[in-house]
Amino acid sequence: MAFSINPNVDRVLDPPTNETRGWVERNEHNPDLPIIDAAQAVPSYPPSEELTAHLAEEVCRSDTSFYTPILGLTALREACAESLTSQYGSLIDASNIVVTCGGNHAYCMAITALAAPGDEIILAEPFYFNHQMWFDLQGITTRLLPCNETPEGLLPDLDAARALITDKTRAMVLVTPNNPTGTTYSPQYLAAAYDLARSRNMALVLDETYKDFLSVGTRPHDLFADPDWGETLVYLYTFSKVYSLTGYRVGALAGGQRLVGAIGKIADTLTICAPHVSQKAALFGLRNLGRWAEQKNADLQQRLTLLRETFLQIDPPFELVSSGAFFGYLKHPFAGSRSLEVSRRLFNEQSILTWPGSFFGPDQEQYVRMAFANAGHTEIEELVRRLSRIGGA
Ligand SMILES: Cc1ncc(COP(=O)(O)O)c(C=O)c1O
Repeated sequence: MAFSINPNVDRVLDPPTNETRGWVERNEHNPDLPIIDAAQAVPSYPPSEELTAHLAEEVCRSDTSFYTPILGLTALREACAESLTSQYGSLIDASNIVVTCGGNHAYCMAITALAAPGDEIILAEPFYFNHQMWFDLQGITTRLLPCNETPEGLLPDLDAARALITDKTRAMVLVTPNNPTGTTYSPQYLAAAYDLARSRNMALVLDETYKDFLSVGTRPHDLFADPDWGETLVYLYTFSKVYSLTGYRVGALAGGQRLVGAIGKIADTLTICAPHVSQKAALFGLRNLGRWAEQKNADLQQRLTLLRETFLQIDPPFELVSSGAFFGYLKHPFAGSRSLEVSRRLFNEQSILTWPGSFFGPDQEQYVRMAFANAGHTEIEELVRRLSRIGGA
C-alpha cells in the first residue's frame, strides 16, 4: 500500500506565492504595459560590492566549509548582541543570541521550543502566512487576533487578545514593522502587549524582520530594559532584508537562557548550524555596512513618502489604509469581490503584481498588499497612476 502524508502537512495549503508566480509564468499581464512587481518583499538592490568581494576571499579559506558551533560563530553572536544593545539601549549578552538560517527558521525553532501539538498560540491577523502554516504543520491551534484600523495603521486588539487566552495558550505572535500592513507598533503598544503576555505566563514572540527600515535612530521599544525580559520576550530577526541577502539564509533570535538551551537541541537536529559563509556575510555586514544600510533605508523612506504623497495627489479608488517598511496595505473598491480576483485583475489589466489579502488571513478579502520596496521611484508613481485606471471601480 502507498504511504500516507502526515495529515498536519496534508491540510496545509500549497505555498500561496505559487499562485501569483503562475500568472507571471503564463504571461497573464497586459502585454502593452511592463510588469511592476510589487509582490514578494525583496530589496530591489544587490548586496554591497564590498560584502561580495569579502565573501569571494572567504570562500577560498578552508574554515568556511566547516560547521560552526550550533548557536553560531562566537564573533557573530557578539556582534549581534552589541548591535542590539546599541539600538535598544539595554544590555543584551552574546549568550542570548542564536544565529539561525534566516527569520523563518528562527520563528519555527522558537515556536517548536514554546508549544506542543494541541497547544494554542495567538496570531494577529493579517498574518505573515508562513507563521500560520507552521502552526498547522505542528498541530498547534491558531487563535486569530483581529486588528483595528486606527490612525497609526492596523493594530491587533489587545482586549480581544486577553479574551482569547486559555490555559493552553503558550504565546502571542506580533510582527513590527508589520508584514503585510507596514504598520509599526509604538513602544507603548508593545509594552502593553508584553505586560499582557508576562501576566499570563506566555511568550511574546516579536518578529522584527523590518526593524532596519524605521526612521534612523528610532528605538523600536524598551522591552529589553526589563532584567527578566528573557522570561517573556522572544525576539526574531533576519539579515535577509537589511543586507539584501535573502538567498543566503541567515538570521538571529534573542531569548533567555532557557529558550536558548531548548533551541540548541532543535537547531542541532535540524541544521547543525547556519551556513558558515552566510554567517561570515552577516558578520561583515554588522562590522562594516552600517552606513550602507542607513543609505538604503534613507532611500526606502523617500519611496515611502513618495508613495503616500502620490496616493494623496492621484487619489486612486484603492485606499492606502496602512504603509511602512516595505509595504502598503490597500483596501480595494470592489465590495463583495474576492481579493484574489482583484489582484488578478490588477495583473491582467494593469500588469501590477500584488498579493491578495486572502494570503494573510480569512478576514482579509477587502485588501491587497503591495510590496512597494521592490519598485523604483518612477515605478511607484506609475503604479499609483495605474491603480487609478483600473476599470469599474
Ligand atoms: C515578517 C517576516 N518574517 C520572516 C520573514 C522571512 O525572513 P527570512 O527570509 O530571513 O527567512 C519574512 C520575509 O518576508 C517576513 O516578512
